[in-house]
Amino acid sequence: MADVKKLYLKTYGCQMNVYDSERMAEAMGAEGYVTTEVLEEADMVLLNTCHIREKASEKLYSDLGRLKPLKAGKPDLKIGVAGCVAQAEGDEILRRMPLVDLVVGPQAYHRLPEMVRRQGQSVDTEFPAEDKFDHLPQRKGKRGPTAFLTVQEGCDKFCAFCVVPYTRGAEVSRPAARLLAEARDLVERGVREITLLGQNVNAWHGEGPGPRGLGDLIRALAAIPGLDRIRYTTSHPNDMADDLISAHGEVPQLMPYLHLPVQSGSDRILMAMNRKHTAAQYLDLVARIRAARPDILLTSDFIVGFPGETDADFEATMALVRAVGYGAAFSFKYSARPGTPAAEKAPVDEAVADARLQALQALITEQQRAAQAAMVGREISVLYEKPGRMPGQMVGKSEHLMAVFLDDAQGRVGDLVRARVLAAAPNSLSARRLPG
Ligand code: SAH
Ligand code: SF4
Ligand code: F3S
Repeated sequence: MADVKKLYLKTYGCQMNVYDSERMAEAMGAEGYVTTEVLEEADMVLLNTCHIREKASEKLYSDLGRLKPLKAGKPDLKIGVAGCVAQAEGDEILRRMPLVDLVVGPQAYHRLPEMVRRQGQSVDTEFPAEDKFDHLPQRKGKRGPTAFLTVQEGCDKFCAFCVVPYTRGAEVSRPAARLLAEARDLVERGVREITLLGQNVNAWHGEGPGPRGLGDLIRALAAIPGLDRIRYTTSHPNDMADDLISAHGEVPQLMPYLHLPVQSGSDRILMAMNRKHTAAQYLDLVARIRAARPDILLTSDFIVGFPGETDADFEATMALVRAVGYGAAFSFKYSARPGTPAAEKAPVDEAVADARLQALQALITEQQRAAQAAMVGREISVLYEKPGRMPGQMVGKSEHLMAVFLDDAQGRVGDLVRARVLAAAPNSLSARRLPG
């Protein structure tokens, strides 16, 4: 057998990094690398990083520090840094951590194999004109029932706190024909649920004839036989076009779940964040979405302690959360990021920000529990994703993306079943399979 080399791949950050990691593993597969979960047996270590908050970013350096003894005992070991820290810090990473061999930004992944073949250190953080996905090898073989599909990448919104427009570059939409072909291929290989990904997924736009906006694209995807479920993330409130909202009422495959980050409930802070909408406009949007699909479950992201945030601003956030009623939400303490406009401003007192984060998280947890409890007794559909830990148990996701546990000795991964919810725990449901 030819020399098989082993790749250890660690992914931080968002779902787009998960998708990119999969694609990089495939690209490296063509170079004779198979992935391994065992760090010690790796010939190459690739860290796919996230720059969104300081903690996420610093994790790279502590992980690289831990690789020093491994590299010392194995000088041929290649160490690569990909993702958003690679893009933001470039050759600074090599200066801080000389054990790194290559640094590759998110728009240069198609050049990764060539970089790996090269001797010595290299850095590629170009934003090329070509589409990296055109040059990454196609996937082959059977796969699990759920998949991500990147339809759009980059961001032109420039929220005052956020590094993404700098690390991922300007908004670029992939062509509809390519996406439909990729989706058909995924379905042929066993996928029943596709989550469309983009930093601003609802800003997706098509060129020429065919789908024009994300609502159109979803309608075109729904025509693929065997594609039972469609989701998308992450959306910006200002890009929720009427056509996308109406798709929620009209396309049965489009799941009743929407991640719609608002960040704050204070108009003053929303303005300072450059979000370009008010709390009232967001609430109006939520009402229109719920009119189209009354059972939709909404989730959001929040930042507390943004520079200048007062108690009254924070109370406005709490009021907005109470007014919407979320199924779940992520909340973060503001982290000043180098190069962003907000980083120039005086920070909120740390202890105050901590207390606000706690209060917000308590409220969100309460709402999440209520949303889970409200499912008890209801009939749901569940897509089985894996066997559970108990014998005869299956684990899947409901339409509302809740984890569901069922006793179903006949069940198989990839089955889409009807079920009755028996009980709710804070983060999961248990259910009984219904016949048919
Ligand atoms: N593109 C998506 C998500 C971007 S990052 C969107 O626009 O919604 C995911 C979340 O991280 C953001 O929604 C925001 O809540 C949080 N985030 C981004 N920058 C941050 C920062 N500097 N400090 C704290 N949280 C941040
Ligand atoms: Fe960042 Fe704002 Fe763009 Fe989201 S919309 S990626 S928060 S700049
Ligand atoms: Fe992080 Fe980059 Fe995603 S900064 S959240 S990995 S787009």
